[in-house]
Amino acid sequence: MRYSYDIIEKVRMRNDIVDVISSYVQLKRKGNSYFGLCPFHNEKSPSFSVSHGKQMYYCFGCGSGGNVYTFLMEYENCSFQEAVKVLSGKAGIKLPEIEYSQETKELNERKTLLLEINKQAAKYFYCKLRTPGGTAAMAYLKRRGLSDETIRIFGLGYSDKYNNDLYKFLKKKGYSDELLKDSGLFNVDEKRGMYDKFWKRVIYPIMDVNNRVIGFGGRVMGDIKPKYLNSPETKIFDKSKNLYGLNSARTSRRRNLIICEGYMDVISMYQAGFTNAVASMGTALTSQQVRLLKRYTDEVLLIYDSDEAGVKAVLRAIPMLKSVGLATKVVNLRPYNDPDELIQKEGTDALKERLERAENSFLFEVRILKKNYDIMDPQGRTNFFHEVAKKLLKFEDEIERNSYLETVSRLYHIQADMLKNLVHKLALKKIELLVQPKPRIFAKQIQKQGNDIDKAQKLMMTWVTNYPEILRELKNYLKPEDFTTPLYRQVAKMVEEQFLAGEVSPARIINHFEDSEQQRAVAALFHTQIFLKTEKERKKALQDVLYNMKDSSIAYRLSRLDPTDLMGLQHLMEEKKKLETLKESGFTEKIYL
Ligand code: UTP
Ligand code: MN
Repeated sequence: MRYSYDIIEKVRMRNDIVDVISSYVQLKRKGNSYFGLCPFHNEKSPSFSVSHGKQMYYCFGCGSGGNVYTFLMEYENCSFQEAVKVLSGKAGIKLPEIEYSQETKELNERKTLLLEINKQAAKYFYCKLRTPGGTAAMAYLKRRGLSDETIRIFGLGYSDKYNNDLYKFLKKKGYSDELLKDSGLFNVDEKRGMYDKFWKRVIYPIMDVNNRVIGFGGRVMGDIKPKYLNSPETKIFDKSKNLYGLNSARTSRRRNLIICEGYMDVISMYQAGFTNAVASMGTALTSQQVRLLKRYTDEVLLIYDSDEAGVKAVLRAIPMLKSVGLATKVVNLRPYNDPDELIQKEGTDALKERLERAENSFLFEVRILKKNYDIMDPQGRTNFFHEVAKKLLKFEDEIERNSYLETVSRLYHIQADMLKNLVHKLALKKIELLVQPKPRIFAKQIQKQGNDIDKAQKLMMTWVTNYPEILRELKNYLKPEDFTTPLYRQVAKMVEEQFLAGEVSPARIINHFEDSEQQRAVAALFHTQIFLKTEKERKKALQDVLYNMKDSSIAYRLSRLDPTDLMGLQHLMEEKKKLETLKESGFTEKIYL
């Protein structure tokens, strides 16, 4: 169940976006908008804009944008419902109780209780470390070089040697066995009943991005195996969706995030001043973790074990990180195994230098690839460069591809032209395969056209929301159906409805989308940059865009027309004719821009 649209809109209108965002970001007025440093990516000059009129924000640097709800969802990493709750509180609007299904209600209650139990347990472990029973554990942490402050910041603790201590403690607080069983903090067997999972271990509480304790890792203080025990998956803990340390790393305001493997690495790096490290907790990086990272940064440094398994893990992670647009570099720690060890042996400056020397992920991949070939052998050399060419082909941007190509040819002593030819040949082959039996230049044309159309549609939407008055004239020519992307079409329909009802409000349109990714896409629609200064230029551009959109919309519908539908065909032909007349008429003269 959700809040009604009316209440969502009421809460939104009572929270002026400039006020709300000002409490998080320092804004300066410039004309009709306010500008500041974007909180969603690292930047030195402000490209983050907040519009009072539109009640929206948009960052021209990273493309994040939306209305006041989107901002809160992105900044606080909360759900739409939570954002509504917070803002209604600020505006003093009482929300109606929303009717969750019985099942959701129970699950939510359960989650709240489990979080509460974890918090209690974390406190319990934390205190235990500071009792006489915890002396050895404290000494262990000190021996590993951690200061009191670091131990406190990460909330480290100790589970002592009695194996039902925590159980007794939580029982006294009144939690049921059934609930405690779900917390993952206890083992159950027939003989002994329920007993603590962690005992005689140093405890690392694991927090989500909102600083809530969702699980624990516990380390033995000696060489016994297993070295770590971790909370199992519970209703609040999913290892694959969280990263250890992200709660603090995300606020470090560094240029990038460092991904390493272990709890100790994050902690020891933090203490050494590298406050932007997170750990994948020993498992392979997952796609959820990658997406999570992308919310907070554009660049990551990978520090994995230097052994074979570590290299494998890096090779697996690189394409995943790339797929969400994260630039990636790989840090070489040899001969050390993890950053903690490097810091202990060589100190902070040594680590700093290694980070600065991190290798571009593509060059890393090529270097590792080379190990599979005998470069001294002509055949081996040929095969190697064929593989390299295949990899180079994956870069879509020509400048990027060429600069990699040049670097690779320099590093591996092959003439750049030769490598270029190889890439070119492969490209032709690939296109032939793709578009057979069409002529091969076709594929590229279609793609280019696709981009142009998309851009035209975005531009049109920005125009329409910036100057809603132009709709008076425009609506005679342009229909929502002319937007060929489903999302754009949907938005265009809403704009039309709002226009007919007397007021166009982009921020209100965003309310219709609960997912912040979608909200961001819609916000981008309203914020295409228009670099045109004079009214004449704008009119000319509007005319071109309209023509372009109409033309492709007709072509699109034509391509999907049932060949026997003669009426439909005639209709489209008429539209096409009308479009040509429109082009002649210079109709935008009637429009004030
Ligand atoms: P490491 O073996 O590199 O541990 O495992 P570490 O973090 O460097 O710990 P120290 O320095 O020996 O104290 C990396 C991560 O893999 C997971 C943990 O999350 C650990 O931090 N792991 C490792 C386990 O879950 N269980 C294990 O038995 C070992
Ligand atoms: Mn270690």
